[in-house]
Amino acid sequence: MKVTVVGAGAVGASCAEYIAIKNFASEVVLVDIKEGFAEGKAMDLMQTASLNGFDTRIVGSTNDYSKTANSDVCVITSGIPRKPGMTREELIGINAGIVKEVSGNLVKHSPNTILIVVSNPMDTMTYLAHKTTGLPKNRIIGMGGALDSARFKYRLAEALDAPISDVDGMVIGGHSDKGMVPLTRLATRNSVPVSEFISQERLDEVKEATKVGGATLTGLLGTSAWYAPGAAVSALVQAIACDQKKIFPCSVLLEGEYGMNDLCIGVPVVLGKNGIEKIVDIKLTDAEKAHMKESADGVSATNALLEL
Ligand SMILES: NC(=O)c1ccc[n+]([C@@H]2O[C@H](COP(=O)([O-])OP(=O)(O)OC[C@H]3O[C@@H](n4cnc5c(N)ncnc54)[C@H](O)[C@@H]3O)[C@@H](O)[C@H]2O)c1
Repeated sequence: MKVTVVGAGAVGASCAEYIAIKNFASEVVLVDIKEGFAEGKAMDLMQTASLNGFDTRIVGSTNDYSKTANSDVCVITSGIPRKPGMTREELIGINAGIVKEVSGNLVKHSPNTILIVVSNPMDTMTYLAHKTTGLPKNRIIGMGGALDSARFKYRLAEALDAPISDVDGMVIGGHSDKGMVPLTRLATRNSVPVSEFISQERLDEVKEATKVGGATLTGLLGTSAWYAPGAAVSALVQAIACDQKKIFPCSVLLEGEYGMNDLCIGVPVVLGKNGIEKIVDIKLTDAEKAHMKESADGVSATNALLEL
């Protein structure tokens, strides 16, 4: 199992570290455009191998894609992150060019790869990868929902005063402050609906805190977060590498599912060795459908800014 991660910055390096620590990949290639940066991060991470007990080989490369050849999974984290007060959508001008170039280079050297897009605005960057690489739809996956769901579970556990391992919940929709649809109706504490434990008002607070989860961290850190994003990507890569058939909400190209067409947006999917093994079309309430429609309109408006 060979994994390439483009962008050796905060998210890319964190992602490489979590993949290595989980010890399921033989090789992780880190690529960055900044001279020596990926090589430095790779060397630093390799010097944790004997301490953290992993055998994954981490290699760095300054924009030499020959080193990425025949990767089973490629992750795109290259691009600028947001600063406090910015929306993810504002990054499109710079990141669209980077994602287009990087995805083209990756597919040229690994035509059978599964692509995971992380750079923001993620749903639109995933759509761009569909439009420009020609890969089949099961092999292009946008990461956002796995992170947003982890943030949702963190907020739910806090509100319930419960351990996070007792809590389950999922966020679908666009990966943006307004676009996220946290499914509070389906959230459970050890199979009991969370509404049995906390009021609707408290649940609404959880929902709002989840939606601005990224912005809250950007305000505190001065740039966007990396530990949970890196961990979320590593969970998707592991589900593919180990053919786990786990369900994660991911941004995928919809062709009629959820009554939507020609856009990428977060919905539950089964992840396995073929990438997206299945899109899970769950039954939503009218209110959830309306929220999804509003979210999809936002994503489509951002997609319209692409120069395809
Ligand atoms: N989808 C999500 O859930 C999620 C979560 C967090 C961050 N992000 C996004 O991920 C991206 C990376 O965030 P970060 O905090 O790691 O940023 P960062 O600035 O720390 O790292 C980005 C790296 O990309 C590199 N880069 C730029 N252009 C490149 C190119 N053409 N080829 C190769 N490398 C290139 C830069 O040199 C830099 O090292 C941002 O767009 C951010 O908004 C997405």
